[in-house]
Amino acid sequence: MRFLAAAAFVLLAACSAPEGDAVPEAPAVAPILTGEDAKDVYSFARPEEARVSHVALDLDLDFERNRVSGTAVLDVLAKPGVEEVVLDSDGLVIESVTDEAGKDLTFELGKAVESESSDEGLHGQPLTVKLGAAPEGAKDSDPRKITITYSADDADALQWLTPEQTAGGKHPYLLSQGQATLNRTWIPTQDSPGIRQTWEARITAPEELTVVMSGLSGGKPEELGDGRRAFTFSMDKPVAPYLIAIAAGDIVFREIGPRTGVWSEPAMIDAAAAEVEDTEAMVKAAEELYGPYRWGRYDMIVLPPAFPYGGMENPVMTFLTPTFIAGDKSLTGLVAHELAHSWSGNLVTNANWTDSWLNEGVTSYFENRIVEAIYGKKRATQEALLDFAAIEETLADVGEDAAGTALHQPIGTDSAGSAIIYNKGAAFLRTVEHIVGREKFDAWLRSWFDRHAFQPATSAMLLADMRENLVKGDKELEEKLQLEEWIYGTGLPDNVWRPDASAFAEVDAAVGAYTDKRAIPNKSWTEWTSAERQRFLDNLPAKLSAEDLAALDTALGLAKTGNNEELFLWLELALANRYEPAVPQAETFLSKVGRTKFVRPLFAVLMDQGSWGQPIAKRIYAKTRSSYHAVTRGAVDRVVGQPG
Ligand code: BES
Ligand code: ZN
Repeated sequence: MRFLAAAAFVLLAACSAPEGDAVPEAPAVAPILTGEDAKDVYSFARPEEARVSHVALDLDLDFERNRVSGTAVLDVLAKPGVEEVVLDSDGLVIESVTDEAGKDLTFELGKAVESESSDEGLHGQPLTVKLGAAPEGAKDSDPRKITITYSADDADALQWLTPEQTAGGKHPYLLSQGQATLNRTWIPTQDSPGIRQTWEARITAPEELTVVMSGLSGGKPEELGDGRRAFTFSMDKPVAPYLIAIAAGDIVFREIGPRTGVWSEPAMIDAAAAEVEDTEAMVKAAEELYGPYRWGRYDMIVLPPAFPYGGMENPVMTFLTPTFIAGDKSLTGLVAHELAHSWSGNLVTNANWTDSWLNEGVTSYFENRIVEAIYGKKRATQEALLDFAAIEETLADVGEDAAGTALHQPIGTDSAGSAIIYNKGAAFLRTVEHIVGREKFDAWLRSWFDRHAFQPATSAMLLADMRENLVKGDKELEEKLQLEEWIYGTGLPDNVWRPDASAFAEVDAAVGAYTDKRAIPNKSWTEWTSAERQRFLDNLPAKLSAEDLAALDTALGLAKTGNNEELFLWLELALANRYEPAVPQAETFLSKVGRTKFVRPLFAVLMDQGSWGQPIAKRIYAKTRSSYHAVTRGAVDRVVGQPG
């Protein structure tokens, strides 16, 4: 109960308990957790004193200057007697802050803290605004409205693409990536996942471009008569601010089902729509598993390949890399994943980033259940096996005792990478599922989402909830589950449930045959699932000769595959073996694709190859760096160094 003790003054509307199949209304103002474990050291905000409950943006997109500018009107709920509100900001140029009457308010931009140099992880600058006197007749519970007039140049969250970086080649493009702490580079608000906010926006842009956001569209844009149009959006459910997202470009919409659809550039829309045609069925499957989809529409946008992630779960508008389009729906686990975040992440949100397994681990488990429902057990098991192998690879790499292999990752923990919070997180839930049985487990997980809908959560809360509603005092079960060990311990607990490796029996035999006598499985290759082909490429001997690689490529058509996960594994293997013909292939790939998961490892492999690979990495990066999103640039800078 301690964790749910929300400061009473923010509880303007209570969330009613779900009844039957009725979808409970989202509260207008979501509570803030006050427990020590819910504190977010990545934000300057002091929400227990004053917190933002609503953001109204009115912004212009300037593609000449790579700049957004305009106003943000914030609703601030301040405790009686509190005279200032602290916001997050990173590189924003603040022109003025005014109150409801238009009167100037005093504000101060604090000292900048570099994300890298601070062990506290703080990022950007605190923007402290003196609230001044409350308007005549205002009640303590009334929000104070402050208007911030500002601009953001070259914000890290925003990527301004040149026409050459788009499929159409004619118009520029803008996309944003807010998670984890980037939205403060273009929106002055309290940028913490535990401080949920409703929001609305009016965005003006050149008339050739269409704007979408992670909120409900206000309908047809308004023609402004000056070559620009104004688009409006609103999100009436309180969301974590990292989930506010925008994209603008020459894009069109294609309906998939009654509440699903996809946006992309015209040149890509047929391929995009075909690849995501199972989305409506996925939403239904997800609802059958874990309760109603509470966000209304589920649309997606397939972005240009410069997008730094595979996908981002922006509410009602999932952002997707085009690199998941393989032509055969073999990589649509990505869509299942981002959809699952509509529950784990967007509905129930990690209160801070030390518990991001609550977002990503739970989602990875949920993703696999959707894949099982839509594509069957075999594909789901194979994908779970690939994920499981990644955990074991990580543990072999960093050691089973490394602090970064725990699910809960306190500040200062050297993260062991995504295989832990994603795949170990999923393995934990899969283990619980197998111990208590699927039916009981599913009922519990569904009820967890219901109980914590539109609220932040911590690891401790999940454990307490599991004990109260699943273990229910059963000592033997408690012992079997090893809950504490799973969340706070390193490595893999000995009760871990392993996906059935026989799902890969055939491909594992083929790997053996290749290793022993260089037998290439050219017959089976085309019949294999993508997961099987990835397993094969993943498990090939690390050292291969140029002749071996040439023979593999000739027989299996690796360099010209349209499946980017497979292409990536091929390039990684080939470059690790200093295979010259792969260099121009990698260069083409790295010049187009900005997805960090592919880009960083390819540069890392080259950098590992001493006097052969390092000059290649540096030469390519000097050319491609400026085309990458700040996220990708940051990741590759740490591997290659900054050019020049
Ligand atoms: N929310 C993440 C992306 C993210 C994580 C952005 C952490 C910033 C910080 C998204 O849902 C995700 O996990 N994407 C994966 C998808 C994959 C696991 C299916 C990706 O981008 O590869
Ligand atoms: Zn995710």
